[in-house]
Amino acid sequence: MKHLTKNTKEFVESSTESQRISSCRYPKWIGYSQATKIVNRMEELMTYPKSTRMTNLLLVGESNNGKTAILNKFNQKYEASFDSKTGSVINPVIMVQAPPEPDERRFYNAILEHIFAPYKTSEKLDLRYLRVKKMLIELQTKILIIDEIHHVLAGTPTKQRKFLNVIKHLSNDLQIPIICAGTMLAFNVIQSDQQLANRFEPRVLPKWSNDLEFKRLLVSFEALIPLRKESMLAENSMVIKLLAMSDGLIGEVARILELCSIQAIKSGEEKITKEILLNIDYISPQDRKKRYFA
Ligand SMILES: Nc1ncnc2c1ncn2[C@@H]1O[C@H](COP(=O)(O)OP(=O)(O)OP(=O)(O)O)[C@@H](O)[C@H]1O
Ligand SMILES: [Mg+2]
Repeated sequence: MKHLTKNTKEFVESSTESQRISSCRYPKWIGYSQATKIVNRMEELMTYPKSTRMTNLLLVGESNNGKTAILNKFNQKYEASFDSKTGSVINPVIMVQAPPEPDERRFYNAILEHIFAPYKTSEKLDLRYLRVKKMLIELQTKILIIDEIHHVLAGTPTKQRKFLNVIKHLSNDLQIPIICAGTMLAFNVIQSDQQLANRFEPRVLPKWSNDLEFKRLLVSFEALIPLRKESMLAENSMVIKLLAMSDGLIGEVARILELCSIQAIKSGEEKITKEILLNIDYISPQDRKKRYFA
């Protein structure tokens, strides 16, 4: 079982069929090069000195292409902890999801809820903001991550402008890097504001294409999938089929491989074959759209 990592090989040797099937469903992390570069850049930003002109990051990519996975990977490393010397809680990285609509109050609430800080609905906006700021200082927060930023940048140009100002103000005032993730919409809106465009370094997660990177990704997936035999996922005809089915989105690739590997275990085949690939109960993103509009 040379195609597997040491851990996966040991797991395959010591587990039952149903344990292996459960493990196929478990999300995996693959540090493909763009993901690793972005995580490393975030690490660098952790130690940036404070200034009124912080470098922020904007992670851009289509839905289901790995933005949140990267943010989670980084965030997990910096969970809140208790500092016994000072008797206080520190939380170096705070990660929140932007509310589903451009509502400033709900935006601050998302941060306050994350750090378990109570708030009254009657609390004035400026007081709420000051409290967010004070709490982040107390928690020694070094990076604020806002996922799904496109939600608060949707709407009319006036609403967009209002929220661009909120982000600008946060960034200048907190003097910590802000990392945002969102779709192309967020990128376009931020680009439309010169000051923000200068402060946000864009990092793009393009769709996957038929190249060495994608083949490497498939080899890495294969090494983590608990099958006894080698599937040769990076072989050209498999690559072409996987790309066409997944529309080049890592989330779809992961889903297809999950379904195939379960089938490979159940059938006793122990590897992902083209027949399995063609027969899984999976509808590609393009076909989903067609069905919706049909
Ligand atoms: N680095 C990775 N290694 C392995 N699988 C991954 C990786 N990144 C993403 N995936 C898979 O892709 C799925 C979708 O990723 P993710 O939730 O990060 O997408 P997203 O870009 O945040 O999408 P959305 O814009 O819809 O929130 C994950 O649930 C996981 O299965
Ligand atoms: Mg996401």
